[in-house]
Amino acid sequence: MTNISAGITAVHGYLPEQILTNSDLEKMVETNDEWIRSRTGISERRILTGEGRGTSEMGEHAVRGLLEKSGLKPNDVDLLICATVTGDYIFPDTANIVRDRLGITNGWGFDVNAACSGFLYALHIGRQFIENGSLKNVIVLGADKMSSIVDYTDRTTCILFGDGAGAVLLQPKEDGTGILDSEIRSDGAGAEFLFQKAGGSKYPATAETVANREHFAQQDGRTVFKAAVGGMVSAVQTVMKRNDLTNESLSWLVPHQANLRIISTVASMADIPMEKVMVTIEKYGNTTAATLPLCLWQYEEQLKKNDKIILTAFGGGYTWGATYLKWS
Ligand code: COA
Repeated sequence: MTNISAGITAVHGYLPEQILTNSDLEKMVETNDEWIRSRTGISERRILTGEGRGTSEMGEHAVRGLLEKSGLKPNDVDLLICATVTGDYIFPDTANIVRDRLGITNGWGFDVNAACSGFLYALHIGRQFIENGSLKNVIVLGADKMSSIVDYTDRTTCILFGDGAGAVLLQPKEDGTGILDSEIRSDGAGAEFLFQKAGGSKYPATAETVANREHFAQQDGRTVFKAAVGGMVSAVQTVMKRNDLTNESLSWLVPHQANLRIISTVASMADIPMEKVMVTIEKYGNTTAATLPLCLWQYEEQLKKNDKIILTAFGGGYTWGATYLKWS
């Protein structure tokens, strides 16, 4: 049996041009720059504005850049998995809209709904097809237009989120690099603490659901904060232990970007120094499924072959996990 791993061989991202700053938010809700910075670490985020522009457009930009970088033609792509909770439509899925926008007619695609852990879940799914030898080029895309489900009258959530997309290419590797281990978890008991109430089959859209603002994301911030720290610390520690990793041998921790206080608490509890932690939250906020690939993209020039990297995320569901890889 050959030892094939799924290596990340290219990464690319897309961020909309429009910037929404803390001072812009001060004009919309009762908040202030000092509160937002000190409680979340965020100073601005990107927003996709304009009629009829959806998540697929950002996904298209990210994947187009990925194809250009890697020299692949559209029909070299065997599978495109899109992690998102803000697809263009409830159905059909957004992965296939992105494929169509790029002229990919070969192979197949589908969406993964695991909120802020979506990219980690999709990566774990994608790696299986590379490892079992059935596919050669798998694209994992994390893309969310959170501004489409954020209530800009709710100061407890609207300060947190931004829009963006990031994508990686997975290819077979036999040089010891690639994805080596994953700890992927979920617990449906967390559903009520972070969710979009209406628009699904339980509460379809009515004039009342719209009037009650039930089509926006809502959360119990303090409960989610604690669960996020607990989930990510436990997943990171599990993966470190299983792979004999220490704070010295680890090159980078790539945490989901939800709140700088969550990131620094996770790093401190896992005993990983902040110099080894990727942080992009100040400029982009929480872009849900896009935070992990956007981090990799922003830090790409600092990454070296064989760097030992742990990705970790926590999100609605609850969903969470950690993945260990050696940079390809
Ligand atoms: N500006 C000013 N004040 C605000 C505010 C804002 N934008 N949002 C909340 N407040 C107020 C609250 O009303 C509360 O006032 P009170 O004490 O008079 O009741 C006070 O600030 C403290 O609120 P609290 O909810 O305890 O703040 P917090 O320190 O927990 O920070 C979050 C709130 C949402 C930033 C934080 O809980 C969080 O980041 N949670 C996790 C969110 C997350 O990661 N979700 C994505 C999925 S992983």
